[in-house]
Amino acid sequence: MTIPSTMKALLLRNDGYAAASSGTVLEAMEPYVEAGTIGVPQPEGSQVLIKVALDSINPSDVMFVKGMYGQPRAIGRPAGFEGVGEVVATGPDATGLAGKRIAFATGLTNWGSWAEYAVAEAAACIPVLDSVRDEDAAAMIVNPLTALAMFGIVKDEGEKAFILTAGASQLCKLIIGVAKDEGYRPIAIVRRDDQIPLLEGVGAAHVLNAEAPDFQQKLAEVVKAEKPRIFLDAVTGPLAGTIFSAMGKRARWIVYGRLDGTVTPIPEPGQMIFMHKKIEGFWLTEWMRNVGRERRGEAAIEVQKRFSDGRWATDVTAVVPLEEAVSRVAEELAKPNGKVFIRP
Ligand SMILES: NC(=O)c1ccc[n+]([C@@H]2O[C@H](COP(=O)([O-])OP(=O)(O)OC[C@H]3O[C@@H](n4cnc5c(N)ncnc54)[C@H](OP(=O)(O)O)[C@@H]3O)[C@@H](O)[C@H]2O)c1
Repeated sequence: MTIPSTMKALLLRNDGYAAASSGTVLEAMEPYVEAGTIGVPQPEGSQVLIKVALDSINPSDVMFVKGMYGQPRAIGRPAGFEGVGEVVATGPDATGLAGKRIAFATGLTNWGSWAEYAVAEAAACIPVLDSVRDEDAAAMIVNPLTALAMFGIVKDEGEKAFILTAGASQLCKLIIGVAKDEGYRPIAIVRRDDQIPLLEGVGAAHVLNAEAPDFQQKLAEVVKAEKPRIFLDAVTGPLAGTIFSAMGKRARWIVYGRLDGTVTPIPEPGQMIFMHKKIEGFWLTEWMRNVGRERRGEAAIEVQKRFSDGRWATDVTAVVPLEEAVSRVAEELAKPNGKVFIRP
């Protein structure tokens, strides 16, 4: 395949981190990325060059382009953490991936995927089975691996019931699905009534609307009956503080997202002393570093089996052509219940 010297991409307009928080909602793309042309990168060492077929957009991408993620921006470089495509060139230490269709994550290269070509480290690439759709493969690393990793925490703790905020997120739907299959009892918290039947259908044992006037009473009843110990929280803010203080002894609040940018109170700090409650964090990047190649490989196989046999499926809100992304993505992301993709 002839590789051109330049390509179309969505390029970061800012460097480093934002001086102040601008909230977690992407109000528009224009302040953060612009459509442009840039040289096609050369893969070095253990890197591969990928002709990108489809990119997913995750909340971490939004936080990153806004300068609020745990990694600095590089002005003029493409944004985008995840996608699927074909390996069209490799560095000398990654020749085994030549010609393969792969799911990839770009976090290790600091060079994004919202472009016609992207570079990724071989360690952050997963060869994809033909039976996995592009929409599942493009969103196959960040959320699915996190789902298996965090469900592993639930299993290690031993209690069947656990609580999740942002219950209707793609990630929570994956966790609820795998938990149901293994006989666990997810308690999902949402903010829209129409998501209650949807999540019961996926396998949630209880779905509570945090906006309902009787939420705190229902939460207390469910906690008393189910005795959840793990609280997987992507929302934070006052809601998370309320849930954590309603939980029983030895509850573990595991923060893995920050969808509510307001202050997060701990209403009853004494519970950490007298009830042995704990607050922790989870980051997939660290899990990938710590678990070792064998566990990562097992998780990648499990993820592909689940997408291939239909136990998991990524809900799609929109597939936006790269040329239209700057004008359309913010509007598409505002719609609930599915992922937005960019097609270069
Ligand atoms: N730490 C890690 O390693 C890691 C890895 C993967 C993902 N994550 C995090 O996991 C979370 C979910 O990711 P995803 O891709 O599955 O998301 P997604 O499909 O885009 O869904 C986002 C969900 O969050 C809800 N939400 C947004 N803002 C909210 C708020 N202020 N209060 C309550 N709910 C709110 C939305 O509710 P509505 O449906 O009502 O709009 C929606 O259901 C994100 O925070 C992401 O950063 C973390």
